[in-house]
Amino acid sequence: MMPCRVMGMPGLIRRRRPRGGADRTPGSSFCEVPIAMPDKATLTIGDKSYELPVVVGTEGEVGVDISNLRNQSGAITLDDGYANTGSCCSAITFIDGDQGILRYRGYPIEQLAIRSTFVETAYLLIFGELPSRTQHAEFRALLSQHEYLHEDMRHHFEGFPPNAHPMAILSAMINAMGCYQPALLNPDDPEHFTDAAARIMSKVRTIAAASYKKSIGEPWMYPRPELQYVPNFLHMMFSKPNRPYEPDPDVVSALRMILILHADHEQNCSTSTVRMVGSAQANLYASVAAGVCALWGPLHGGANQAVINMLSSILASGETASAFIAKVKDKTSKIRLMGFGHRVYRNYDPRAKILKEACDKVLAKLGIHDPMLDLAKQLEETALRDEYFIQRKLYPNVDFYSGIIMRAMGIPVPMFPVMFAIGRMPGWIAHWREVALSPNPRIYRPRQIYVGPTKRDYVPADQRPL
Ligand code: ACO
Repeated sequence: MMPCRVMGMPGLIRRRRPRGGADRTPGSSFCEVPIAMPDKATLTIGDKSYELPVVVGTEGEVGVDISNLRNQSGAITLDDGYANTGSCCSAITFIDGDQGILRYRGYPIEQLAIRSTFVETAYLLIFGELPSRTQHAEFRALLSQHEYLHEDMRHHFEGFPPNAHPMAILSAMINAMGCYQPALLNPDDPEHFTDAAARIMSKVRTIAAASYKKSIGEPWMYPRPELQYVPNFLHMMFSKPNRPYEPDPDVVSALRMILILHADHEQNCSTSTVRMVGSAQANLYASVAAGVCALWGPLHGGANQAVINMLSSILASGETASAFIAKVKDKTSKIRLMGFGHRVYRNYDPRAKILKEACDKVLAKLGIHDPMLDLAKQLEETALRDEYFIQRKLYPNVDFYSGIIMRAMGIPVPMFPVMFAIGRMPGWIAHWREVALSPNPRIYRPRQIYVGPTKRDYVPADQRPL
């Protein structure tokens, strides 16, 4: 893992600062302000002061290292939901949520989305550099080699009810996959790790397609090694034994781009889960299976599905965009505008920007006029003009438009979070590796402030109320 750089000497660094302070209006520009950055911060609790090291990242992000605070003072920091807590130093992905910047290993997402492939981006995330042509070819060959599932895994599929959610199947089957490769994963052995990473990345799309086929009662389609990653997946999803599916090249490009855009997003809920599980030295399969479970939640990877459900119910009710937005703003309704808002982005999510354009292109190419796209745009326009959304800096996130494109491709709605999981797999693998290779491995174990009952004595059952 990239060691955190603790400032050794006081000095000046250039740090971006929002003009106008915290309540600046969305979209206003930032200026580069040189600020003095001391190497230590001082925290005073009661009449005692503690010096805490200051840590600065390569993009100038500043953190106060409190890892020894409890030893020094007996106090911990409290940050419900971790919104202000750095859980690690990481060299994988950089996000500047105020400016809407996302980079994998330094490369801007806008360049990767248009110019890279999913396999190449996965290699970049996992191993840190774009592959040479030989490395690329070797990694592709490994993906093809591992695309089949062990035949015995069919029995596992048979045990699921036909309406089982594919995310439940996916997480269970990834864990099951580990049973077929019992040799311990050794992240220090590059060949072994590369093989395991390729196995998971390759088989996850085979499992995803098989779970879809199971849900519609069609026979599994075996992968075709001559096909690239994305067309091979589409073949397993949509071919039938008597009817091969030839995907439109624009559909392939759009899906490739969706996978790239989802490939990593630093310490989000599912990635933090993978890192947490991995920190216990759990194997890669167990760790990424846990990531799938976290991703399933509607506030995370399940949001793309929730967006489509929201749009279809608005369309079915005949409600206008403004009427729906009014309901969202009414806190008693508990309705959220799904696909809007983000813990990190307080600006337009750069992935949503790319996907909005792609949405227009793909639907036009496929000759589809989807009223959901019209409604999504109306909701976005209405929300972005509204004080509620402006004040809270709520913008469309990656899920707002991705579902509309996937629907146009014929991907069924319950499979949306699965598509997200396929895309996020390289990021999870990269983060698991970063934890495994950490020079100072430590199990992740947060503290808490206990607010329950203080000590009391046990009451036997016959002395308690009926
Ligand atoms: N619709 C309406 N109001 C919202 C929304 C929304 N989508 N998102 C946030 N808010 C409001 C909150 O009600 C809160 O208002 P308040 O200050 O009056 O109480 C304020 O904005 C801050 O919201 P938080 O919930 O504190 O923001 P947080 O950072 O915890 O949550 C989250 C981020 C979960 C993404 C949230 O914006 C949300 O629920 N969005 C909808 C679900 C969604 O699209 N999830 C996908 C996220 S991207 C991803 O995982 C790939």
